Amino acid sequence: MNKRSLSPQLLLGPIPAALISCGRSGNEYNIITLAWAGVVNSAPPMVSISIRPSRFSHGMIMETKEFVINIAAAGQVDLADGCGTVSGRDVDKFKHFGLTPVKGLLEYAPLIKECPINLECVVEHTIDLPSHTLFIGKVIAAHANAEILDEKNRLDLNRCRPLGFCSGAYLASSPLGLSLGYSLKKE
Ligand SMILES: Cc1cc2nc3c(=O)[nH]c(=O)nc-3n(C[C@H](O)[C@H](O)[C@H](O)COP(=O)(O)O)c2cc1C
Repeated sequence: MNKRSLSPQLLLGPIPAALISCGRSGNEYNIITLAWAGVVNSAPPMVSISIRPSRFSHGMIMETKEFVINIAAAGQVDLADGCGTVSGRDVDKFKHFGLTPVKGLLEYAPLIKECPINLECVVEHTIDLPSHTLFIGKVIAAHANAEILDEKNRLDLNRCRPLGFCSGAYLASSPLGLSLGYSLKKE
């Protein structure tokens, strides 16, 4: 075994490069790209997102306690990178990137129509960490484009490759075609 000892770091991936949409009254909307997003509870379905307080989106989500996780397809990498490199303080990202805000169940945060998967979330807890605020949200509604679902409404990974991120770079994961528990079914 020839392992190298590295400084403590976040070699955890692939993780999503997700587009988080938020809003406030007066139809003011914003989008932030986040890699620090994950699943934290099964029932009810709960997720986490972690945002630096300096981000424009941070104030909006703190204020309204709402956000939408929009999963981009691998082909939408320009969008994810663009929304993660300009601030809503300077640019209306929906207009700038030609995106369509769609009202769902939430009062302020819109879905991004062009993203194939959208999870509407209500913030239940916030935790101040040294560099980021961790928002833990309950998923109150989920939406997916019909063409990426199979007949049982499961995500078909051959029809949509969610955009991923690992070690500072984007990736498109390809399915192995092996479902959870497949090893038990082998002879
Ligand atoms: C791939 C990628 C992942 C990112 N992940 C995070 C993250 O997890 N948390 C965070 O605070 N910022 C993250 N950022 C940076 C923000 O997206 C970026 O600062 C953005 O311009 C902030 O937008 P806003 O000021 O409109 O909120 C990421 C950027 C990219 C490109």
